[in-house]
Amino acid sequence: MRGPAQPDSWSRAEGDRRVAPSAERNLEPIAGVLAGVLPATGRVLELASGSGQHVAAFASRWPGLVWQPSDANPDNFASIRSWGAGLPNLCDPLLLNACAPGWGRGDADAVLLANLLHLISTPEAETLLHEAAQALAPGGVFALYGPFRRDGRLVTEGDVAFDARLKHADPAIGYKDIAWVRDRLAGAGLRPVSLTEMPAGNLMLVTRRD
Ligand SMILES: C[S@@+](CC[C@H](N)C(=O)[O-])C[C@H]1O[C@@H](n2cnc3c(N)ncnc32)[C@H](O)[C@@H]1O
Repeated sequence: MRGPAQPDSWSRAEGDRRVAPSAERNLEPIAGVLAGVLPATGRVLELASGSGQHVAAFASRWPGLVWQPSDANPDNFASIRSWGAGLPNLCDPLLLNACAPGWGRGDADAVLLANLLHLISTPEAETLLHEAAQALAPGGVFALYGPFRRDGRLVTEGDVAFDARLKHADPAIGYKDIAWVRDRLAGAGLRPVSLTEMPAGNLMLVTRRD
C-alpha cells in the first residue's frame, strides 16, 4: 500500500505537540456524540490518532475508560505522548496500519475513527471497516467521523473542491458514500445506532456489535 495518508499540514506545533485546527474545532461535537454511546468502563481503541488531541481530551473526560491511541505513522507518537502526558488511563501509542487485514481481536469496547476514510482507497476502506468490526467485543461500538458522499453526491462546495483535490493527487482515494459504509458494517455484523449531522457538513455514524 502507499504510505500513511497525511493531512496537508499541521498548522502549528507547540514543542512535541502537533496542533491540527480541524481537530480543535470538531473535538466538542464528536465528544457530544460519544457521551451518548460510550460505556462507563472498558477499553477504547482509536485508529489514526494523528496529533493525539482527540484521544488525550477524551481520556481526560472519561477516566473510567482505558484509551489506546494508534497510527500508521510513528512520527505522530511524540505528539500523542505529549498531549497525553500524565493521564494514567492513556496507553502508549500503538503502531497500527488500520488498512491491513488481521488486526481486529474482539477485545475493544469501542473503536473510534475520525478523518481517514476519504484519504484511502475503497479496498483499503473495506478492509479497515471489516477489521474495526472484528476488533469489537460483544456490545462494543464503532464511532466513525468524517466527510462523506450522500446518495453518491457531495454536499457542499468545499466537499466538491476537496474531493477533486484528493482525486487529483491519487485517483484511488476520495470521499466514500455513507450508505456504502453502513452496508459494509452491516455485513460485518454491526447494527446502526445513530447517524448525526456534524458541523461543516461532516457526519458521525455509530454502529454496535450485538
Ligand atoms: C487527517 S489525519 C486525522 C487525524 C485525527 N484522527 C483527527 O481527526 O484529527 C489522518 C491520520 O491517519 C493516519 N493514517 C493514514 N493511513 C493510515 C492507516 N492505514 N492506518 C492507520 N492510520 C493511518 C495518518 O498518519 C494521520 O495521522
